Amino acid sequence: MKVLVTGGMGYIGSHTCIQMLGAGITPVIFDNLYNSKQAVLQRIEKVTGHRLDFVKGDIRDKALLTKTLKTHAIDAVIHFAGLKAVGESVEKPLEYYDNNVNGTLVLVAAMQEAGVKSLVFSSSATVYGDPASVPITEDFPTSATNPYGRSKLMVEECLTDFHHANPDWSITLLRYFNPVGSHPSGELGEDPQGIPNNLMPFVSQVAVGRRDCLSVFGNDYPTPDGTGVRDYIHVVDLADGHIAALENVGAKMGLHIYNLGTGNGSSVLEMVKAFEAASGKQVPYQVVARRAGDIAECWADPSKAMQELGWKALRSLDDMTTDTWRWQSNNPQGYPDI
Ligand code: NAD
Ligand code: WQD
Repeated sequence: MKVLVTGGMGYIGSHTCIQMLGAGITPVIFDNLYNSKQAVLQRIEKVTGHRLDFVKGDIRDKALLTKTLKTHAIDAVIHFAGLKAVGESVEKPLEYYDNNVNGTLVLVAAMQEAGVKSLVFSSSATVYGDPASVPITEDFPTSATNPYGRSKLMVEECLTDFHHANPDWSITLLRYFNPVGSHPSGELGEDPQGIPNNLMPFVSQVAVGRRDCLSVFGNDYPTPDGTGVRDYIHVVDLADGHIAALENVGAKMGLHIYNLGTGNGSSVLEMVKAFEAASGKQVPYQVVARRAGDIAECWADPSKAMQELGWKALRSLDDMTTDTWRWQSNNPQGYPDI
């Protein structure tokens, strides 16, 4: 099977390409390198021993996408490409709607033209808004509190409408919880540009000495230690979830929706402690005000993915923090510019 991976040079996409190659699936990467570096390709090739096809292009370029789908005889698409910073989406909503919503519509139109009818889309637990309870099942109501989240919700709605009109397609919406961790080789990992928005990359940059101190956004939430609780999932488990989706429903007509999470919640302070244990480094922190838009707790009920895809997350919090530290300590400044 040959799969076009939009955004395949990014954090989750690169790890998914490695797992695909291990499963005998051939990825063709399509990425404009807006938020990733050329060095990722070499690292994937180093870790897997496979040469990869990489097309540098923008998903809003329908002609290039259509040509790529046809010339590579693509069977299915995994669609990671998009913008993902919540705060930036508030400042630049049009860019988010253009990249994430319009970009997906262009991709689907190109797939239609090329006759490719199987799509796996990177959605997010953000579509559950502030959930009334936890754990969250796929039938919970959806909502959005910022343009990034709204763009994911809009794409889900567009794809649902599209599927009604085109029931012979297989469309899978994967709602990720909080991806963390790195490839165990230490060759690939998360490499945010500028100040990290997310907890784990910030913690690991403090541990490696790139930043002085973590700000913990509030310790007065109604959670056991007062800090926010999330469902952190190892990026390699998440990557495997895409392969399970491709293999189990990728050729099945229908609109399929799955949570990809572990089913366990961990607090900010638990994550800091786990990271200190894995790295042997101290992570100084100070408690500051809550971050606007944050929720108290969020974790998945992942049982639907287990029942229908035979997938579950296998890696522990220790694996997540140990692998993150291996990547961060081997690559303190992230990927090199080549
Ligand atoms: P990332 O930024 O590391 O990867 C995205 C990739 O897409 C980058 O390589 C970027 O260069 C590319 N890209 C962006 N716009 C493009 C365009 N117009 N044309 C072609 N390529 C483009 O992000 P990630 O963390 O790997 O996330 C992948 C997907 O998963 C995104 O859609 C994101 O919204 C979703 N997601 C991420 C998280 C998370 O916490 N990382 C959680 C839930 C969902
Ligand atoms: C986790 C916890 C923070 C940074 C975001 C997006 C979501 C999804 C994943 C894409 C929270 C706390 C964080 C810091 C902190 N992305 N924190 N200090 O907010 O669950 O989700 O990323 O779809 O859409 O909203 O993840 O890693 O930002 O925060 O105390 O410097 O860590 O308050 O409790 P979040 P996160």
